[in-house]
Amino acid sequence: MNYRHAYHAGNFADLQKHAILLALLETLKTQSPALSVIDTHAGAGGYDLSGEMARRSGEAEAGIFRLLSSTDAPAVFAPLVAAVRALNRGADGPLYPGSPLLIAGALRREDRYVACELREDDFELLRRSLAPYAFAQALRVDGYDAVLTKGGRGGRPFILIDPPFERPDDYARIVEVTRQALRQDPAAVLAVWTPLKDLETFDAFIRGLETVTDDALIAEVRLRPLLDPMKMNGSAMVLVGAPREVESAVRAATDWIVERLGQKGGAARVWRTGA
Ligand SMILES: C[S@@+](CC[C@H](N)C(=O)[O-])C[C@H]1O[C@@H](n2cnc3c(N)ncnc32)[C@H](O)[C@@H]1O
Repeated sequence: MNYRHAYHAGNFADLQKHAILLALLETLKTQSPALSVIDTHAGAGGYDLSGEMARRSGEAEAGIFRLLSSTDAPAVFAPLVAAVRALNRGADGPLYPGSPLLIAGALRREDRYVACELREDDFELLRRSLAPYAFAQALRVDGYDAVLTKGGRGGRPFILIDPPFERPDDYARIVEVTRQALRQDPAAVLAVWTPLKDLETFDAFIRGLETVTDDALIAEVRLRPLLDPMKMNGSAMVLVGAPREVESAVRAATDWIVERLGQKGGAARVWRTGA
């Protein structure tokens, strides 16, 4: 496993993923007395954007720092901006929360949170990040397996799946995990992040997903036309079982990222399977 999220933390894709994640958690909290959250690919917990990896990629400059300095960002980004400022004690950086700190900060005492990370170095950082939260557990296990062994205990399941897509079977495993999670609890909600490189790969994934659910909300940030499959041309969030109430927030986040951070020929597409 070569992937280190520290190179990409705070980029446009994190903005989309994290803004939608927080909007979804807020809505689910109003509907469910307790949530059982699994973060299958948790990463390090939080990131220092002044560190060598983040500076070398420069991705945060074109992401979170643009958001922090903008005056026209829609309300959907407010919880993410607040979380970044809280982590930096009121300032605009250089610390950026990963999904574990965002989830732990949003959950209630009655919720449960399992965060999975396989890399030893990032797992150690994750374990330390989550130590203050009694309801949270960091595990050095395969996140897909954890959905089967730890899922659905003591609350409505919410599963965030955010792999590095280094393995050829990631898409197939996501479809299988979705099938199993919905079988364990049909009220389960899943949020899957994927890169957008070329349309064929993405379409094949959605067709696979349609074999296990007819309820997916898809938000595509196409930063530029999807013409070069060797490049990450955008990102998508695929939400299974998401409440209708979250749809306008998903749309607002996706539109703003394309408008403000996209290039010529970019496009925002938010749509439901079967619609
Ligand atoms: C994209 S990063 C996660 C970022 C994080 N979700 C966030 O939003 O801050 C993916 C992480 O998954 C880890 N990983 C890769 N395969 C895994 C697996 N099968 N189970 C658990 N973690 C895995 C990688 O080491 C990497 O740290």
